[in-house]
Amino acid sequence: MAAPLELRTARLHLVRLGAEHLDDLVALDADPEVMRYLPTNGPNTRERYLTELLPRMTAWDDKPFGFLAAYEEEAFVGWFHLRPSVADAKVLEVGYRLRRATWGRGLATEGTRALLRHAFETLGEQEVDACTLPENTPSIRVMVKCGMSYAGSFVHPRIPREVVRYLVRAEEAVLQD
Ligand SMILES: CC(C)(COP(=O)(O)OP(=O)(O)OC[C@H]1O[C@@H](n2cnc3c(N)ncnc32)[C@H](O)[C@@H]1OP(=O)(O)O)[C@@H](O)C(=O)NCCC(=O)NCCS
Repeated sequence: MAAPLELRTARLHLVRLGAEHLDDLVALDADPEVMRYLPTNGPNTRERYLTELLPRMTAWDDKPFGFLAAYEEEAFVGWFHLRPSVADAKVLEVGYRLRRATWGRGLATEGTRALLRHAFETLGEQEVDACTLPENTPSIRVMVKCGMSYAGSFVHPRIPREVVRYLVRAEEAVLQD
């Protein structure tokens, strides 16, 4: 049974992501601008979500973290995750992917801060990281606005390309506007 996990911010309602979000996920990834810095082996189709991606995204449902679908009022705006880091499995990693129509309004920063508050204040984590391609400046900007600092680079096993890693310790995190 899934561990309860639901977060609210001023504008966002975050709930566990699951098969009921399949259509929204396929539509989100169908936008080439959304996928610009997210290399994949071909399009993220319904079939691929069902066989490969959704099982991976729901793998932490028994834990007090995982992937969360984000809603602004009743509209699906994208997702956030808090899951074991690709760079260091002892640390949790934040990530996000939002519909293009919602960009530039601070929603990624707002949702990421909610996940960081959850990690630090509820789960008692000491540090959280994130990674992205070095050219993904909007994503890096979100990390920096949350208090994260550059912590090196590594080859992401699933891409596989060199990505930059950003890290924040609990006492350094910027959790409010
Ligand atoms: C990354 C993403 C989640 C950011 O969402 P968002 O809600 O627009 O983010 P925010 O509004 O909180 O912050 C974005 C910041 O990047 C800045 N930015 C946007 N485009 C930029 C660019 N081309 N160059 C430099 N900065 C840029 C914005 O100005 C803002 O910074 P500011 O508040 O200092 O002005 C969104 O662009 C997205 O979903 N991208 C596609 C998926 C993706 O790449 N996910 C990350 C994978 S690691």
